[in-house]
Amino acid sequence: MRGVSVSSDQERASLRRVRVLFVCLGNICRSPVAEGVFRDLVERAGLGGRVEVESAGTASYHAGEGRDPRAVAVARRRGIELVGTARAVTARDLTRFDLILAMDAENLADLRRLAAGNGAAVELRLLREFDPGASGELDVPDPYYGGARGFEDVHDIVERSCHGLLEHVRRTWGL
Ligand code: 4NP
Repeated sequence: MRGVSVSSDQERASLRRVRVLFVCLGNICRSPVAEGVFRDLVERAGLGGRVEVESAGTASYHAGEGRDPRAVAVARRRGIELVGTARAVTARDLTRFDLILAMDAENLADLRRLAAGNGAAVELRLLREFDPGASGELDVPDPYYGGARGFEDVHDIVERSCHGLLEHVRRTWGL
């Protein structure tokens, strides 16, 4: 029966896990903060079983390393533990994830190059498209060569953006 099949399709769609990947350059500062903040928001919204969250870097020179201690310290003061080790983004990520958020325009250009020819239907966006305080600046600034203040700023930007992002994910996937 038509009605039954529509309803079971909807049921399947609503049970599918949405996969979200955050990408920066080294995967030790910005994208791990976004991963930690967004996962915390998802869990607090009771959606931990419905949304999967990971992060990766466009470069591999920090692959296998832990997160930057400066990012870890700022996050910990705000009740977020940054877990995992750095890894490079792969062409397979573009087919495995539903939504990929780049931290800056350079990361986005690198991801688009990786996606070209891949036929991937993934949604590629800048994280700060979801930042209500962005006022035209859509890059999350790279804090790596700066001081501690840069890591506080990154965390503030990521927190604001992740609230908007969660609304987007809920709306798009009906969660
Ligand atoms: P991330 O920061 O991309 O936010 O992880 C950086 C980490 C390392 C380097 C640059 C940015 N690096 O040049 O080694």
